[in-house]
Amino acid sequence: MALENGLPWVLDGIDLGDLLLEVGPGPGLATGILHRDHPRMVSVEIDGDLAIESKRRVREEVRVLRGDGTCLPFCEGAFSAAVCFTMLHHVPSQRLQDQLLREVHRVLQPGGVFAGSDSRWSRLFGLFHMFDTMVVVDPDGFGERLENVGFADVQVDKIDGAFRFRGTRVQ
Ligand SMILES: C[S@@+](CC[C@H](N)C(=O)[O-])C[C@H]1O[C@@H](n2cnc3c(N)ncnc32)[C@H](O)[C@@H]1O
Repeated sequence: MALENGLPWVLDGIDLGDLLLEVGPGPGLATGILHRDHPRMVSVEIDGDLAIESKRRVREEVRVLRGDGTCLPFCEGAFSAAVCFTMLHHVPSQRLQDQLLREVHRVLQPGGVFAGSDSRWSRLFGLFHMFDTMVVVDPDGFGERLENVGFADVQVDKIDGAFRFRGTRVQ
């Protein structure tokens, strides 16, 4: 899914509020688009080199931290919304993926939305990640995983090769 088409699809109709968290920006392609409308934004990337690359794409006030989405260095309720794009399958186990979902839920304000997307399994996708971490997320069970960590109003939509999701922290 091309980013230019993907971002509007994933974020369609969502109010990201005034302090946005992005987990796993990689080299910052989405960050470089999002920061134009959301200057109060923090991105957390586990790979130090990619965090530096991502920081180069954004304006001064956007913070890009080297950090781990499974153990976020923020207090409860710090963010108005959170996003992640094509990163969950890079988290090396379902247990750690769920820990990341739990952490995102914790740092969201009540009413805050977590939205994102990831790739679906295909042979090409498998080949592409032959020497890379790849724990593919099954979109069919993903809504329940979001609910299990506390998200409500959960929605998961599939298209060829990708899915999007969203859920809201209610309290
Ligand atoms: C495929 S890239 C996605 C890049 C970007 N989101 C995009 O859509 O262009 C996945 C990124 O997630 C990062 N990542 C993996 N596990 C992470 C974690 N636990 N916390 C933060 N970032 C993580 C990887 O280092 C990688 O840069």
